[in-house]
Amino acid sequence: MAIILGIESSCDDTSAAIIKDGILLSNIIANQSVHEFYGGVIPELASRAHLQNIVPVVSMAIKTAEITKNEISAIAFTRGPGLLGSLLVGVSFAKGFAKALNIPMVEVNHLQGHILAHFLDEKNKQNPHPEFPFLCLLVSGGHTQMVVVKDYMNFEIIGKTVDDAAGEAFDKCAKVIGLPYPGGPVIDKLAKEGNASAFAFAHPVVGGLDYSFSGLKTSFLYFIRDRIAQNPDFIEQNKADLCASLQNAIIRILLKNLIKASEMTEIKEIAISGGVSANSGLRNAIVDEGKIKNWKVYLPQLKFTTDNAAMIAITGYFKYLNNKTCGYDIIPSARI
Ligand code: KG4
Ligand code: ZN
Repeated sequence: MAIILGIESSCDDTSAAIIKDGILLSNIIANQSVHEFYGGVIPELASRAHLQNIVPVVSMAIKTAEITKNEISAIAFTRGPGLLGSLLVGVSFAKGFAKALNIPMVEVNHLQGHILAHFLDEKNKQNPHPEFPFLCLLVSGGHTQMVVVKDYMNFEIIGKTVDDAAGEAFDKCAKVIGLPYPGGPVIDKLAKEGNASAFAFAHPVVGGLDYSFSGLKTSFLYFIRDRIAQNPDFIEQNKADLCASLQNAIIRILLKNLIKASEMTEIKEIAISGGVSANSGLRNAIVDEGKIKNWKVYLPQLKFTTDNAAMIAITGYFKYLNNKTCGYDIIPSARI
């Protein structure tokens, strides 16, 4: 029997989860509303909020799972990538807790966690698991990558963004039209009422399977600036169409390389993960494309798309079973 406590603190969500023999028993997440006021994550404030939240969040995860701390076999924690101050809180907590219980620690790469979230099962709910090898489009606030997942421990990145991440494109463009942070979910909601073909924005030109979103962001910014010069109420009068058109542009960019990657690798098991995989337009577009291309599409449950410790615990569980533990001298890494 293996019981893993997972801890996630890479950005602005403090989370703890318990996995017992591959089954998720609890997944507690404390969001940090303090950043909304500033329109983005303030690293210093994130570290402080993690310090405030980590003990109650872990206690709640253990209580909800109806286990005792002495039953825990190992502690899995996010080592990176992420904000260093945020990571330090989770890693330091994991060290103290592991040392006190005299149990091993397992370091987890946050991005692998997002991908392996597809293997999370709950007590009365077995989710469909992709078969190896599968293609995973990982789209979050900090990363955009195309990954061939060969098994639980074997990943090959075949494409990535050369500048902004897809989530950043959502968030930065949202800010331009005065939407609150994080902008992705707000754009998703407003886009449902808008016309996706109302406006056109620049599509990037990059080679291979790489992505670029900074050109789109600039094109959006200049477009808004020019239209406001003619009509100061332009944003208010066109908010839904702007959101739908922007979202459509991001989806088209993401989908283009996914189709290319599937053709190049001849892989038809297709998964998406990360915060942006919560986007309803992207989910629908991939399902629709999958019908044409004969893909088997895997969409994570919404609660496992944005940052959570369940994905860290399941990754830690697989690593623990493979004896991939680490020493107590481990340090976090902002960039892995
Ligand atoms: O995976 P995540 O929680 O954190 C990182 O590892 O970066 O992703 C957060 C990102 C943010 O940029 C947020 O705007 C975006 O995911 N996001 C969405 C949606 N929900 C979250 N973007 C578009 N549509 C959504 N529904
Ligand atoms: Zn993430």
